[in-house]
Amino acid sequence: MSSSLTPAVASQVEEFFRAASLNDLKTERMLVVSGADRPVLLCWSEGRPFALDNRCPHMGFPLSKGTLESGVLTCHWHHAQFDLQSGCTFDLFADDVPAFEVRIEGDDVFVSKRPKDRIDVGYHSRRLFWGLEQNVGLIQAKGIIALLTEGERANSVIRRIARFGARNHRVWEDGLTTVSIVARLAPHLSHTTLIYALAKGARRVAENCEGQPARHSAGGLNRERFEEERLSAWLSHWSRIRHDEGAERTLLAALDSQLPQTALNRIVFAAVQDRIYADGGHALDHSNKAFELLDAIGWDEASRILPLLVSHLTRSRSEEEGGAWRVPLDLIPLIREAEDQVRNQPRSAQKKDPPSPAGAGLRRDRLLPPLYNELLGTDPKAILELIVSALAEGVTPASIARELSMAAAARLAHFPESNDVDDWFGPVHTFSFCNALYQVLSRGEVNPEIERGLLHGAMSIYVDRFLNIPSAKLPDSAALESLPSAAGALLSGILETLDQKKGWSAVANLVVRYLRLGHPESALIDTLTFATVREDLDFHKLQVLEAAVTQAELWPLDSPERELLYVGASRHLAAYCPTRRSSSQSVGVALRLHRGEAIHLEGEK
Ligand code: FES
Repeated sequence: MSSSLTPAVASQVEEFFRAASLNDLKTERMLVVSGADRPVLLCWSEGRPFALDNRCPHMGFPLSKGTLESGVLTCHWHHAQFDLQSGCTFDLFADDVPAFEVRIEGDDVFVSKRPKDRIDVGYHSRRLFWGLEQNVGLIQAKGIIALLTEGERANSVIRRIARFGARNHRVWEDGLTTVSIVARLAPHLSHTTLIYALAKGARRVAENCEGQPARHSAGGLNRERFEEERLSAWLSHWSRIRHDEGAERTLLAALDSQLPQTALNRIVFAAVQDRIYADGGHALDHSNKAFELLDAIGWDEASRILPLLVSHLTRSRSEEEGGAWRVPLDLIPLIREAEDQVRNQPRSAQKKDPPSPAGAGLRRDRLLPPLYNELLGTDPKAILELIVSALAEGVTPASIARELSMAAAARLAHFPESNDVDDWFGPVHTFSFCNALYQVLSRGEVNPEIERGLLHGAMSIYVDRFLNIPSAKLPDSAALESLPSAAGALLSGILETLDQKKGWSAVANLVVRYLRLGHPESALIDTLTFATVREDLDFHKLQVLEAAVTQAELWPLDSPERELLYVGASRHLAAYCPTRRSSSQSVGVALRLHRGEAIHLEGEK
C-alpha cells in the first residue's frame, strides 16, 4: 500500500477504481462498494485499508456483517476467520476469500478491479489440488466448477485428480475407480451431473489419500528392455509369492520395454487370474479400471498409475482360500480342470456376432445363439463345460464375457426385496467382474491365462443362485400403461420415486416405460447418474450403473436384454435410496456460489 499515487501507479489507474473517501472509511471502518464484478468490502484496521470480496467463500454470507479484530475478519455465520491482507482463512473448511490491492491518493481510496491473485486455469488448478490435499469438499467442488467453466474438458479435470491420487497413496482404491467410471459416463452427462460426479470422485480420492505418506517409486530395471513372455512370467511369479517390489519393478520394466497396450493387458490380467476370483472380483475390476482411466487421461501417466495395482496383484485372496466356493460342492477342482482344458484344447477359427451398421450393439440376426440363460443353470460342471466348448468352437472370449454379464445382470434384475439389503454384495460384484472381464477380453488378442476369468465369473454367477429365490418379477406391460408417457415426467418420476422409497420395482417400471417409448437413452443415464452421485453411497452403485450402460450398448436398442440391464441397475440403486446426501451438499453450495446466489437469504422474501 502506498500513501499516494506514484507515476507508475497513475499509469495503471485504469486497473483501479475509486471506491470511497478515506475519511468515510476511517469513520465507518467497514464499507461495501460495487466492484468490477462483485461487491467489495473495504476495511480500516490498525491504521491501514484492506479490501476483500464481500461474499464469504464458505456459503456467501456478507462479510460486512462480521467483526474486525487484530487484522482478522470473522464471519459470524460459521465463524470462519480471514487474514485481512491476504484473504487466507485460518479455518480450512471455508476457503480463502479473494483480496484486492488498495491505494490511497489524498482523500480517495482506490481498489484494484481484479483480485491480487490472477484468477485463471492455473489458479483454479492449484485450488483444486489444495482442496484435495486438505480434503475439503467445498474447495474441490469450486475448483472443478471453475475449471469446467474455463472450458477444461472432463478428462483433463480427471487427469488432475488422478495425478494427485497417484502421487499421494500407494494403492488403487475406490476413489480412482470412481473417477474412471465418471470418465466413461461423462459423454452422457449434463453439466450439473458431471460436476456432482467429478466432485464425488475427487472427494473419495482425497479421503483415500488423507494421512497417507507420499508414494516413492521403486523404479524399473534401469530402463533395460525385456520380452513380453519373460515379464509375464515374472509378474505372475511375484504376484503368487506376494512380492510387492518385484511386481512393481516388473510393471515399470514392462513400460520401459515399450510393449503395446495389448501386451500390458495380457501381462497384468494373466497375473490377476492366477488367483480364482481374487478379492471377490475387486482385483480384476480395479485393474481394469486403471486401464480405462489411462485410456481417458493418456497412457503417458501409466508409470504413475499402474504401480498402484501392485497390492491388488500380490495381496489379494483367492476363493481357494475361502469356504463359499468349497461347499456343498467343491468348485475349485472343477475350475482347475476346466482351466487346463482351456489351455490345452484345439480351437476352431473364431466366430463372433458382427456389430450392427449403426453401431447399436448386436444385430437381431446374430450368428451365435444366446448363452446367458444356460449360464444361469444349477449344474456347475455343465456350465464350465459349456464355456470350454464355446471356446473350442471358436466363440470369442469377449462374446462369452458379454453373455456372462447378461446372466449376472439377470441376478440383479430378479433380486427380491425379501433378501437382506447386504445380500446385494455378491451379485453386484459378480456383475462388475463380468463387465470388467468383457473389457479386458475386448482389448485385443488375449491368451488362455486371461480366459480363465470366464470360468471364475461363471462360478460366481452360480454361487449367487440362491439370491434369486424367490425370483423378483420383471416389469409387465399392463403395469406400465398407467405411467406417464412424456420423457420429462418419467425422469422426474424416477427421482421422486427414489426420494420417497416407493419400492425397487416402481423405479424399474419407470425406467422400462422410458426405454419402451424410445426416449433418448443419454437423458436416462444422466438422471440415474445424478440420482446416484447426489447420495452418500459407496462406489459400487455407480459402478453397477456404468457396467449396465456399457453392456447395454452391446445389445439392440429395443431388446429385452437392454431392459434387463437397466432393471438390474435401477433396482440396485433403489435399494439404497435415499440417504442424507451430506457429501453432495458442498457441491450444491459451490454451484450456488458460482451462480452468485445469496444462499444465506434462502427462504427470505
Ligand atoms: S463462515 Fe461465512 S458463511 Fe459460513
